[in-house]
Order: sequence, then C-alpha cells, then structure tokens
Amino acid sequence: METKDLLGRLRQFDAYPKTLEDFRVKTYGGAVVTIVSGILMLILFLSELNYYLSKEVQPELFVDTSRGQKLKINIDIIFPRMPCGYLSIDAMDVSGEQQIDVDHNLFKKRLDLDGNPIDDRLHKEGLGDKSKQFVEAVKKDLDPDRCESCYGAETVDKKCCNTCEEVREAYRKKGWAFNNPDGIEQCDREGWSDKMMSQKNEGCQVMGYLQVNKVAGNFHFAPGKSFQQHHVHVHDLQAFAGQKFNITHKINHLSFGKDYPGIVNPLDGLNVKATEVQMMYQYFVKVVPTTYVKTTGQTLYTNQFSVTKHSKVVSHSSGESGLPGVFFMYELSPMMVKYTEKQRSFMHFLTGVCAIVGGIFTVAGLVDSMVYHSARAIQQKIDLGKAS
Ligand SMILES: *[C@@H]1O[C@H](CO)[C@@H](O)[C@H](O)[C@H]1NC(C)=O
Repeated sequence: METKDLLGRLRQFDAYPKTLEDFRVKTYGGAVVTIVSGILMLILFLSELNYYLSKEVQPELFVDTSRGQKLKINIDIIFPRMPCGYLSIDAMDVSGEQQIDVDHNLFKKRLDLDGNPIDDRLHKEGLGDKSKQFVEAVKKDLDPDRCESCYGAETVDKKCCNTCEEVREAYRKKGWAFNNPDGIEQCDREGWSDKMMSQKNEGCQVMGYLQVNKVAGNFHFAPGKSFQQHHVHVHDLQAFAGQKFNITHKINHLSFGKDYPGIVNPLDGLNVKATEVQMMYQYFVKVVPTTYVKTTGQTLYTNQFSVTKHSKVVSHSSGESGLPGVFFMYELSPMMVKYTEKQRSFMHFLTGVCAIVGGIFTVAGLVDSMVYHSARAIQQKIDLGKAS
C-alpha cells in the first residue's frame, strides 16, 4: 500500500507522459502554447539571421608606423554673420609650413542674412559700373609700368603701390590704420569701400578641403587679412576699426579623411550661437589614424577624431587677448586603429538556429504538459467534491 503510494508520487515527476489517451488529446492550452512558441521561434530565428548577415568588425590597436602621408581636412562651415570678404582662412603646422589665406581647394560662398546663397551675377549687375569687368577695363587703360604713390607708406624695397591692396599692405607694414580708403585713388578706382560695404550684411559658407602635412597644426577662420610679421602670425583688423564681429557658426561637416561605415564625426551638425560679439572659439582636436579593411580586401586609410572646445570673449577691456574667430588645433595620436570587417561564421549560425528550434520545442513541451496536468488535477478535485 505505502510503496504503491510512493511510486504513484514518483510518477508525477515524469516529464514525458506517454499514455495513448494523452497522445491523442488536443487541448486549447496546447494550441496556445504551440502558437506562442512558434512566434517566439520566428522572432529568435530572424534576430539570429540578422546577426549572421551583419558584418563583424574587429578593432586592433597598434603604433602608427605609416609615414609621409598627407592629411585631408574636409570642411563645410557656415558663418551667418560674417561676410566672405572679411574672412581669411589660414593653416599652419609645426613643421613651419603655412598656407595663408588659402583658397585653392576651399570655396567661399556668399550668403544673405537668411542663409540663402547670393547669386554673384545678380550682385555684379547691382554694383553697376563698379563691377569686376569695369575694374578690369580700368586696369587695361593703365600703364603696366606705372608707379603710384603709397601715400607716405613707401619703404626702401617697395616704392610703388599700384592697387588698393598694395596700399593696404604698405600701411599695414608701417603699422598704420587703414580706416578711410576714400581719398586713395587706387581704392576709389577699384570701388574698394563699395565692395566692403556691400558685403557688410552678409554671411559666408566655407566649403572644400585642406591638404596638410601629417603633423600637429592648426587652421582658423578669422576676420582680417593675415600676414607674417617677425615670425608671428598676425591678423590685420585695422580695416574694420572698431567693428565687432558675431562669430556665430554652424559646422555642417568636419572630417580628417574619407568616411568609413560607422564613423562618427563629433562636430557634424554643431550649431554655435554667439551670445556676445568678439567671441573666440577654440576646438582642440585629437586625430586618430584609422584603417578600415573591408571583406573585399579593400583598405581605406582615414582618420577619426575626438574634440574638446573652449570659448571666450576677446576684448581688451577685460584683458583677454586673442582674436575673434574659429580656431582648430589638431594633434595626431601615435596609436592607429585598424578595423577589419569579417563575415560571420555560417556554422555558428547553423548551431544557433538548431539551439533555437530545439530549445523552444523542449521548453514548450514542458510548459504544455504542466498546464495540461494541473488542469486535469483541478478538474478531478472538482469532480470529487461534487460526488461527496
Ligand atoms: C549673432 O547672430 C545670430 C544670428 O545668426 C544671433 O542669433 C545672435 O544673437 C547674434 N549675436 C550677437 C551677440 O549679436
């Protein structure tokens, strides 16, 4: 009697009941478990498939031993309150190489105050007889061997100033202010003040790229004409005496090489509104050389970067020295990151799929039998209660 009872209890632990009756009975509970486990199986299978189809990217880190490459800096920045005529772009590096007022691969596009591009042709018409064609025509009539006055700013090696630009240059070398170009014949002839005035309420978009040596350096966007004086880089702001600049800027794109899949350019889309005039923005950039090897074997040499920024108001009253503008200081990391793209293993995918199908099937079987047996036990209890 007692041993039979014990055996009966032990039988309750059978996870696989195999009576004929059980085999044939189809229950609602079983149907629900089947549907739920089927959906679960599909979802898990799809996620496994998605994982299999994605590429595996393995990063490696080592010391950068590549040499002599150039660094290509892609730039697209908008200055909504800074006229193109005022803005100069310079690049310098620690090797001493300088690119002053670069414009060979960088283009300035004039924008109106709403940020729409200004059509140059329309603008020339508006300028009337002060148009470029006119200036060219005037130049043609002039004697190419002429020697015009520098208005007192002549030096030993430069006695003639034949253009407004040259007068400006001569003034600057003397350290004189160039506030009033009106009395200067060369400038009147070229419509210099008109040119500056007409651009006063404009913005500027700078687009293109810079090619620099792969050493630390900096490049900047600042108002004024830049030049080299006693090995110091100086910006001449005298032409804009007293004028304050709003250095609001929007960085559409800044990168140090080609894009690879998954690259993050931390400055893209950055919109900086200058709360005060005469702001100086400094971006300290750490460039990390990066190699990306695709599954096809194609290798991409590029760079990623991290950046920290700093801004301050430049005014002589507060004693802060500096120049209004946007400055980028970049440094190169000695470590190189190499990403290798790899196809995921098909065997792993197969194993995963088997595990999903088998695992869900087993667990669903357990759940189903548990549901079925507990339902039956309850039913029996109820029947017993009714009988007594
Ligand atoms: C600079 O210009 C922007 C518009 O582009 C404006 O929102 C901002 O207030 C200006 N800053 C100053 C100090 O005038």
